[in-house]
Amino acid sequence: MATAQELLEEVAAEVRVCTKCDLCKGTKNGVPGEGSANAEVMFIGEGPGFHEDRQGRPFVGPAGQFLNDLLASIGLDRSTVFITNVVKHRPPENRDPLPEEIAACGEYLSRQIAALNPKVIVTLGRFSMARFFPGAKISAIHGQAKKIDGRVVVAMFHPAAALHQSSLRQTVEEDFKRAIPAALAEARRLASEGKLASQQSAAKDDGRDESPPPQQLSLF
Ligand code: URA
Repeated sequence: MATAQELLEEVAAEVRVCTKCDLCKGTKNGVPGEGSANAEVMFIGEGPGFHEDRQGRPFVGPAGQFLNDLLASIGLDRSTVFITNVVKHRPPENRDPLPEEIAACGEYLSRQIAALNPKVIVTLGRFSMARFFPGAKISAIHGQAKKIDGRVVVAMFHPAAALHQSSLRQTVEEDFKRAIPAALAEARRLASEGKLASQQSAAKDDGRDESPPPQQLSLF
């Protein structure tokens, strides 16, 4: 069976040459995501911006610098987590990704989740939140965690929102400090009781099909 690293590299190679939607037009690089293949925590943003398109790496501009600071504030180095986006090419002028672009890219994200099998998924912003918490409002559920499909999923404001709206900065900092260590501790506890998705069940769902709506279990 292919390793997580191999599966992630396979996705990355496909993303770099992807033409499944028009987003690739006029961009310099696809941005598959990066990080440890053993990461317990996966962060999912919205889509690459100017700097990410230039470098082919996620969260390397101002929002990325803030994300690095937020990670450091909870004792996580970005090399130990996995960071990716809902769409893998930069939307023109950083506009919101369209539903058909999110759908076209969805299979890559499903395969990354299945390969990595993270204990905790942190959604950054509305678009990744919508994949796990359909219909929810970020203003209502930011900083909250829920067990969904055998993982703990935490909804966070996008770090860029805090850069544009200074009143959100403290909220984002507090949400990170309060929710992510607690989610990780809870996920590790659930894993030790065999209550999280196993590597095998994650690998079986290789994400190539449209995934069913997430099963939402306990809130804590
Ligand atoms: N914003 C995102 O959502 N993703 C990035 O990679 C950078 C900025």
